[in-house]
Amino acid sequence: MEKMPYRAELDAPVFTTPPAEVISSDWRQTLPVLNGDRVALRELRASDAPSLFALLTTEEVSRFISPPPTSVEGFERFIAWTLRQRHAGSYACFAVTLKGFDTAIGIFQVRSLEAGFDAAEWGFAIGSAFWGTGVFQEGAELVLRFTFETLGVHRLEARAAVKNGRGNGALLKMGAVQECVMRKSLERNGTYLDQVLYSILDEDWRASTDVRWPDVTLRVH
Ligand SMILES: CC(C)(COP(=O)(O)OP(=O)(O)OC[C@H]1O[C@@H](n2cnc3c(N)ncnc32)[C@H](O)[C@@H]1OP(=O)(O)O)[C@@H](O)C(=O)NCCC(=O)NCCS
Repeated sequence: MEKMPYRAELDAPVFTTPPAEVISSDWRQTLPVLNGDRVALRELRASDAPSLFALLTTEEVSRFISPPPTSVEGFERFIAWTLRQRHAGSYACFAVTLKGFDTAIGIFQVRSLEAGFDAAEWGFAIGSAFWGTGVFQEGAELVLRFTFETLGVHRLEARAAVKNGRGNGALLKMGAVQECVMRKSLERNGTYLDQVLYSILDEDWRASTDVRWPDVTLRVH
């Protein structure tokens, strides 16, 4: 996630998260809960703002991504924006939680690059206390399945700053293919950084799913 596509200037009045009891199979109405063995991904809620602010605004998490909101209130506006974009059918943002704990410890985002989600871009950020624990990989597998099976994406792009060792390593181990370097394409703290453009195609992902999905269920709430 080199682009967290929230912009304060796009703010509109906050609307509240749909109640959890709402039953819908349409992700535009409410995102499904994606259950892995140790990780559950769910819709963001306004109440996630304090934990996301605490975990995603540290220097080590944010140094290679577009600047996150700078306050709890900013995260509340970001969360409200994610819900509006999801409702409009152009974007989905999942909170990362550990099974049995409701606290949001990170996010996965998928945004449409063109009408109808044929091509999309994904991004992610997880609190550094959870790096190297398998949380990313399990969450990423769930998001990829949602992206290719539910959204029907054909081509999924990602960008990672060349200097972002963990970001590049994370994408590579999910099967993303390096396509090119986008020179000086991310401004961070007054410096322009080169980014690697990655892609995963639906056919690549489908070819790898037989071994990847034996135990994971995709549950719609
Ligand atoms: C990106 C992120 C979600 C990945 O989660 P994570 O738990 O760190 O990822 P993992 O540990 O599962 O995978 C990272 C891989 O990169 C490897 N890696 C770590 N440092 C590396 C480096 N300097 N160079 C190359 N690879 C590196 C790790 O060894 C690991 O591979 P392995 O599991 O095969 O050993 C997390 O690091 C994060 O939130 N970073 C800050 C936000 C960010 O940069 N997001 C944008 C990513 S494009």
